[in-house]
Parts: sequence; structure tokens; C-alpha cells
Amino acid sequence: MPDWVELERRCLNCQRCALADTRTNVVFGKGPRNARVMFIGEGPGENEDLQGEPFVGRGGQLLDEMLSLVGLSREENFYITNIVKCRPPQNRDPLNTEQDACIGYLWEQMELIKPKIVVCLGRIAALRLIKPNYRITKEHGQWQEKDGVLYTAIYHPAFLLRDPTKKPDTFADLRAIRAKIREVCPEVYSRGVASSYSRRANRGSGFGGKDSEASARGQRRKQPNEPCPDALTMAPRDPADSSRRFHKRSAPPAHRR
Ligand code: URA
Repeated sequence: MPDWVELERRCLNCQRCALADTRTNVVFGKGPRNARVMFIGEGPGENEDLQGEPFVGRGGQLLDEMLSLVGLSREENFYITNIVKCRPPQNRDPLNTEQDACIGYLWEQMELIKPKIVVCLGRIAALRLIKPNYRITKEHGQWQEKDGVLYTAIYHPAFLLRDPTKKPDTFADLRAIRAKIREVCPEVYSRGVASSYSRRANRGSGFGGKDSEASARGQRRKQPNEPCPDALTMAPRDPADSSRRFHKRSAPPAHRR
């Protein structure tokens, strides 16, 4: 049985593949080590390599914003890591050989955490963890059970930055993830951020109602015609582009209303 101290020490000193030669930091993972939910990306980018923490660039910021809307925070209630722990040069996809060299660390992390739910962030993680012919455009948001763990995948946040029209799909997936968490590990929503989220969401309009996401952020109800923050809308997130910072939320498709 691995233990965290020993596992992290081995991982931080790893020389199993050539990514060790070009990394600044090994990006081991972040979050409570008894989390019931894990989010798993493909591999660190430039900011992550510099800071030694997963998803700290623009994509990570978007991810944190989206997850806070469903009451999840890496400080409190999920663990986040990657398939490979060192940055592939020029942010290319990690090679299969690199994944093979590194995946053992993830298996050991999972053995220690024993998650109930694993959310793959993007295609590469889904191909590795769900199935080798995974189609993210067709299968995102679907669930698959393996060895008592429920797996799903959502679009990678970096992809959402490039194609913001996919944000509503991702938000629907996140709402389904919230429902699944409440079904299989409701204790996630009785701790920290999630618990204050849950208390607020259950007050007034009721959990899952129209105001839940605004309530989660301690916000008053949005007024008609008021612009929405852009985590869930199609607004570009470039701060220089202030003229397009806020967009009206488009109507959801009829089947989601
Ligand atoms: N993309 C990933 O897949 N993981 C990170 O940690 C950062 C960007």
C-alpha cells in the first residue's frame, strides 16, 4: 500500500521519461487527499510547470469559475491532477510512452484517495481512463462504471477557451455531475464551500432552481436583460477585449428547459 509522502517523493524525483529533462516542476496534484471526486487533465502547461500546480493558467481559472457554480472547489472538495505530471514541450499531447511511464503515479493516487467519481478533463484523459476509442464530442457527460468508480468526461477548459459555444454543454454536464455527487457521495455537499452552497441553494427558490448558481456565489437574482458573467456564456475571456466581456446568456435548447 503506497503512502502519500513516499509517493510524492518518488514522483517529484521521477526520471522515467524524457519530460524530466525539460520540466521546471513536477505537477503532482492538488486538493484534499480524502476527496470523493477527482478531476483529471492530460498534462501540465507552461504556468503549471512554473508553479508546480495543476490548472493554474487561463483554462484553470475558467475551470475553477465553472466548478464554483456547482459548489465545487479544489481547496475543499475535489482532488485535481493529470495523466502525466511533467509538461510536454510546446504543450503537445503527451505521447503514449510518456503516459505509460507516468500513469502508475495516478493509479497510486487513486488507490490512496479511493474516489467515487472521476471526471476526465478532455479527450486525452478520457481516452486513457474511460476507453481507447472515446469520442468526446459524442460521449461527454455520459457515465461509465469501472471497478466501483464512476467515470465521465467534460470538454477540456482550454478547448472551451477556444470554442466558447461549447460552454452551455459543459455546464449541463456539470449540473449532471452535481446530481451524481448528491446521489453517490452526498457528504461532498456537506463540507466547506459546498455546504454553504448547498444551504444557500436550498433556501428560497430551492436547490436546482433557477437561482441556484447565482446563490452559490452569494449573488442576488439576475434581473432580466442584465449581462451574465462569462464562465457559462459564450463571451471571450480576453480582459483586453472589454467591449465583449459580458454577453447575454443564450436560451437553452428546449429539451434542457
Ligand atoms: N491542461 C491540463 O490538462 N492540465 C493542466 O494542469 C493544465 C492544463
